[in-house]
Amino acid sequence: METVTTLARLRPATDALRTSGSLALVPTMGALHEGHLTLVREAREKADHVAVSIFVNPRQFGPNEDLDAYPRQMARDSALLEAEGVALLWAPPPDEVYPKGYATNISVEGVSSGLCGGDRPGHFDGVATVVCKLFNQVRPDLAFFGEKDWQQLAVIRRMARDLDLTRPHVDAIHGVPIVREADGLAMSSRNAYLSAEQRAIAAALPRAMSGAIAEMRGGMAVKTALRELSATLLAAGFDSVDYAEVRTGADLIPSVEADPENRLFVAARIGGTRLIDNRALG
Ligand code: PAF
Repeated sequence: METVTTLARLRPATDALRTSGSLALVPTMGALHEGHLTLVREAREKADHVAVSIFVNPRQFGPNEDLDAYPRQMARDSALLEAEGVALLWAPPPDEVYPKGYATNISVEGVSSGLCGGDRPGHFDGVATVVCKLFNQVRPDLAFFGEKDWQQLAVIRRMARDLDLTRPHVDAIHGVPIVREADGLAMSSRNAYLSAEQRAIAAALPRAMSGAIAEMRGGMAVKTALRELSATLLAAGFDSVDYAEVRTGADLIPSVEADPENRLFVAARIGGTRLIDNRALG
């Protein structure tokens, strides 16, 4: 695996890989867990070569968010990627991505409003901007993202369609199902912030979501089931529920229908840690 930290070195490295087959990109912010490694394995199945980017993108963190505290473990991440057969690790420093005078922002309307976009103003502008840059830098044929960040995936697909991105084309942007711990908690780099006691509380999230979906499918009004879901989380020890909503899967339009294509989206906090999850109702 070649590790590249400058744009000057990146272009010849990706050009060389592309001469012998297709190239997939798995964009990450590091602190890799089994969910990321699943993306890498999917990418290896579908492409000849895999590039992984590790870049903790300052533009997608709000002023009171965890940019400085975000776990950084490059040596460990690099060893994990090497063992997975990754060809290229793209790990630029911040000023390689946003040099002095950087002034451009990509803002995707519609799918980025509400849910995490409501709670984290500017977050999806930061994501769309960096992902567009990563696509232009690496020019992958395919790209892989986790479905845990379902709204992020919808934003990236919209951006790819709206900006006529050809590398990767919108149909070459792959969403990979959420990888869960044995008790159902969706894997996330932020789970590392949880104490043992908080980790036990966190398991209530997937449980309460399954319960709410069963109620909706059984005929309970969506609004009632969502209210009960929030109450269940607070009773289990969560400190607050940022949102609990049902939306259409593709366009993220709010819905009160228990349609199997719709999805349940939840964000809730334990102490300073914000956990998100989503599931199809069907
Ligand atoms: O999902 C993430 O880890 C990040 O939002 C991404 C897509 C790598 C952009 O910084």
